[in-house]
Amino acid sequence: MIRSVILGSGSALPKRCVSNDELAQTVDTSDEWIRERTGITQRYIAGEGETTGTLATAAAQAAMADAGVTIEQIDLIVLATATPDNTFPATATQVQSALGGSGFAAFDVAAVCSGFLYAMGTADSMIRSGMAKRAIVIGAETFSRILDWEDRTTCVLFGDGAGALVLEAQEVAEDGPGVLATRLHAEGEHCEMLYVDGGPSTTGEVGKLRMKGREVFRHAVTNLSSVLGEVLDEAGYVPADIDWVVPHQANQRILDATAKKLGLPKEKLVVTVAQHANTSAASVPLAYDVARKDGRIKKGDLIALEAMGGGFTWGASLLRA
Ligand code: UT7
Repeated sequence: MIRSVILGSGSALPKRCVSNDELAQTVDTSDEWIRERTGITQRYIAGEGETTGTLATAAAQAAMADAGVTIEQIDLIVLATATPDNTFPATATQVQSALGGSGFAAFDVAAVCSGFLYAMGTADSMIRSGMAKRAIVIGAETFSRILDWEDRTTCVLFGDGAGALVLEAQEVAEDGPGVLATRLHAEGEHCEMLYVDGGPSTTGEVGKLRMKGREVFRHAVTNLSSVLGEVLDEAGYVPADIDWVVPHQANQRILDATAKKLGLPKEKLVVTVAQHANTSAASVPLAYDVARKDGRIKKGDLIALEAMGGGFTWGASLLRA
């Protein structure tokens, strides 16, 4: 059977790292509150010249180097972002050009914090249907540019960054590597829980992020544990079979509560929320890259990716490394 196999991963962070203490100099908050309520200790914030596109390009270059492929071998770029460089064209096309590619399909996917799962699902479907052979799937964000820095309930939670995976169509055996199952969901009726109060067709302004944190928290734990159950069922596995969960990094308490609901030991979670904060669509591939590079994720491991965000949207993917 044909599956989408991960050949390599890469990531990129802005140069500037901002600690909780530094943030507390300008925002009415404290290192203690942020650590206790979220697990976040620092975040990276894009500076002049650093954009979603430049971070995505750097992550894609690192993923191609890790995979040992050149841009001539790529025939698809899917980029998940809610903070594109421009309203259009898609940031994916700018990344394609910056990588020296041309001609093949490149587009953005918008599903906010679950964007990377939506992008993976799309790329995997295109690979399995024969539309693409080798894809770069990217999650990249500069949420610092849509934060209300006067709203302490949101601005302390997010950071900027990018992560990327290279996927390749391979003929594999049943127990071989590749994406095994992906499930995606949306409930548009909850759009007011987490949204940006602007846009090209409404206010004509970019807008700022607004969130009812407690409501999002409650839905996140329920939705994430249930969608993880769905992909496990579809592929014929149980939680105990999982080697690593690479979750969306929104809040340490969400990660702990989701793991508890599934009966998964905390040691099986790849956690980067302390260092990266919530980087929206970038958080899953960033965490994947960290765990692959530090040797935790090994060939043959059963890996679950999951994320939940504005919309609401959520999803999970089960794969064998
Ligand atoms: O990636 C997309 C998904 N997003 C998420 O998953 C976020 C989900 N939500 C959360 O992570 C949590 O709900 C938050 C971290 C946003 C908030 O944590 P919480 O434990 O739900 O706190 P809360 O909103 O109930 O606020 C508790 C208190 C309030 O004060 P009072 O009303 O009890 O006096 C807030 O005003 O904490 C106060 N507070 C702060 N204090 C210091 C809120 N933000 C801050 C802050 N610094 N930054």
